[in-house]
Order: sequence, then C-alpha cells, then structure tokens
Amino acid sequence: MPTVVVTGANRGLGLEFAKQYKSDGWKVFACCRNPEAATELAQLDVSVCVLDLLDFPAIENFTNSLDGETVDLLINNAAVHDGTAVEGFSGIEENNWVKGFKVNVMGPVLVTKGLIKNLSASENPVAATIGSQEGCLQTYNTGGTYLYRTTKAAAHAASVILANDLKERNIPYVCLRPGHTKTDMGGRDAPYEIDDSVALMRQVLAKVDMELTGCFIDRNGDLIPWSLDQDLNY
Ligand SMILES: NC(=O)c1ccc[n+]([C@@H]2O[C@H](COP(=O)([O-])OP(=O)(O)OC[C@H]3O[C@@H](n4cnc5c(N)ncnc54)[C@H](OP(=O)(O)O)[C@@H]3O)[C@@H](O)[C@H]2O)c1
Repeated sequence: MPTVVVTGANRGLGLEFAKQYKSDGWKVFACCRNPEAATELAQLDVSVCVLDLLDFPAIENFTNSLDGETVDLLINNAAVHDGTAVEGFSGIEENNWVKGFKVNVMGPVLVTKGLIKNLSASENPVAATIGSQEGCLQTYNTGGTYLYRTTKAAAHAASVILANDLKERNIPYVCLRPGHTKTDMGGRDAPYEIDDSVALMRQVLAKVDMELTGCFIDRNGDLIPWSLDQDLNY
C-alpha cells in the first residue's frame, strides 16, 4: 500500500488526512509536535513522528529517520494563524510573525527537500502544501491578518518554486485549497465539515500529475489562477 507523510496531524485537517488514508489501508507517518497530547492520533495505529517545524535541526532528523522509506504522498499541512487579534496593525506580534514564516513557509520547503529521495523512490509521487484563499493578493480588500496572509502568499510562492525544482525528478508539487472548514483555525462557523474537505482534497490529490505541477487547485478540482481576480464561492 502507498505511504503518506502528513504534518500537523494531531488535529484539524491533518488528523483527518491521517484518519482517511489509514482507513484506506495506507501506511501513514503522522507528524505532530507533542505526541503525548495527541490522543486521537494515538488511537489510529499510525506511525506518529515528532516534528516541530520551528526546530530546523529536528526537521532534518525527522526526514533522515525516514531513510530508505518510499513516500508516495507528502502533505505539508501544518500552519499557524494570527489568532483572534487580527484587526489592522493591532494583531502584529513580531516574534509570532517570524514563527509564522518558519512554520508556514520554510517548514514545508525543508521537509520536502529532506524527503526528495523518498518521493523519488515512488512510482507516482505527489507533494502538496495546503494553501489558502488568504494567500491570494487579489482577494485582499481589508487590512490586518498580516501573519497568515503574508505567510500563505509566501507558501504559495514556495510551492511554485518547489514545483520547478522537482520537475526534473518527475515529482509534482501542488497547492490545495480546502475551503473554509470547521477546525480550530477555521472556527465553528465555517461552512465546510472537516471530513468533506479532506475527502475532496484526497480526490484532487489522486489525480495530480506533472501536468498539474505548480498549480493551485480548489477542493472541487478547479484550477485557481494565481492572479485571482474574482471572489470564490464558498
Ligand atoms: N480550516 C480552514 O478553514 C482552512 C482554510 C484554508 C487553508 N487551511 C490550511 O489548512 C491547513 C490545516 O489547517 P487546520 O484548519 O487544520 O488548522 P488547525 O486545526 O489550527 O491545525 C494546525 C496544525 O498545525 C500544527 N502546527 C502548528 N504549529 C506547528 C509547528 N511549529 N510545528 C508543527 N506543527 C505545527 C498544529 O499542531 P499543534 O496542535 O501542536 O499546534 C496543528 O496540528 C493549514 O495549512 C491551513 O493554513 C485551513
């Protein structure tokens, strides 16, 4: 059976990715910062790996620990958000903002770089970042939410650069839009359920090939232009 690596797998969309792939018989490497507290993940009978994306040497240790393991699918899912204080400049906390760049932008690049050999060993490798409409500059008609918006925009950029670097190895790299989903980050008023968002993204991932590398793909499979000039319908 194929193997998937998921970051931020202890809650939200990451936990659901781990659940659904496990239930389909995949071998799952589920990464989280604090396995002792990841009680739901512990019940899944998957390989739980410690990974804090703020700790760059730990990223290298993690990817080295998978030496010799074929990875068919890498989902760079973990991310942080500004939190509740997001209005105007009031939400800016410099240290958190720097952490946001490490977790949301540099982490996915370093994890992917460390797993290139593992992905290259797969017959049909796919790697992805979970992107966001909040990373699309042309949707910005308000201020605030500096951490999340700037880091997601940069995460999108990093995905396209990764896609280019991985072309010669035939590893497609895409960005996926889950839609506004009921997680800790999305909030309870979000229109979409976690299981539906993940099931739809999995359908998209199953169809990703080199034709789609470098693309931003909506949960329904539609391509989202990087220069978005219209509102997306939820
Ligand atoms: N939910 C939405 O509406 C929505 C919409 C668009 C895009 N997305 C994207 O979807 C992805 C998943 O979001 P979500 O809604 O499931 O968020 P979530 O419920 O807030 O989960 C975030 C995950 O990231 C992990 N994480 C945070 N800091 C980390 C670090 N330093 N190292 C490793 N892992 C870390 C968290 O682990 P801890 O528990 O240890 O903090 C948690 O597992 C994110 O990339 C997000 O930007 C979500």
